[in-house]
Amino acid sequence: MPEIAPGAFHYPGFLDGPAQEALAREIAEVIAQAPLFVSLMPKSGLPMSVRMTNCGPLGWMSDKDKGYRYEPRHPETGKPWPPMPQMLLDIWDALTGYPKPPEACLVNVYSDDAKMGLHQDRDEADFDAPILSLSLGADCRFRLGGPRRADKSIAFVLAAGDALVLSGPSRRFFHGVDRILPTVHAELPAPLAGLGARVNLTLRRVT
Ligand code: SIN
Ligand code: FE2
Repeated sequence: MPEIAPGAFHYPGFLDGPAQEALAREIAEVIAQAPLFVSLMPKSGLPMSVRMTNCGPLGWMSDKDKGYRYEPRHPETGKPWPPMPQMLLDIWDALTGYPKPPEACLVNVYSDDAKMGLHQDRDEADFDAPILSLSLGADCRFRLGGPRRADKSIAFVLAAGDALVLSGPSRRFFHGVDRILPTVHAELPAPLAGLGARVNLTLRRVT
């Protein structure tokens, strides 16, 4: 088992080229119905460097006044998030084996200078369910620490088609994206071309 930290499993190249292309088509369809938006940091109101959207019953977002949270509707269109594509439900079953389906899939779009600071995913009521992440496009340097911000961390590359499962202890570990790496031949698949350098999907249970 490719376990890189307690409960953290990295599957390099889990999705081959055609599967990445198929996933990109699904995500392009999600974005067409639920346009990318920018979340603002709680309190400071500063914009995050990624653009995002969601699919599934619940979607993650943040703004200055109400902070990090899940909402059943898109903040700009007011419409429910598009349904979770079957392909994502199947990958969730295959890689997590968790008995209940994911309730949220956050789509993060990184431009080549975007990053994500070290954080814990802790806006969910359910920490027993794993987190599943899938990446498309450019490589990034991903950082995975421990349960406290100051804990030692490891850094590794997440590339196109990679899957990462954070379960057990690592479900609560700090993590982030240091930077997008210059990557030869790793443009986003055609259906997502031009949107940015990298797309990451994070599937979670919330309730
Ligand atoms: C996240 O932790 O929300 C995103 C991780 C990633 O982009 O790989
Ligand atoms: Fe996260």
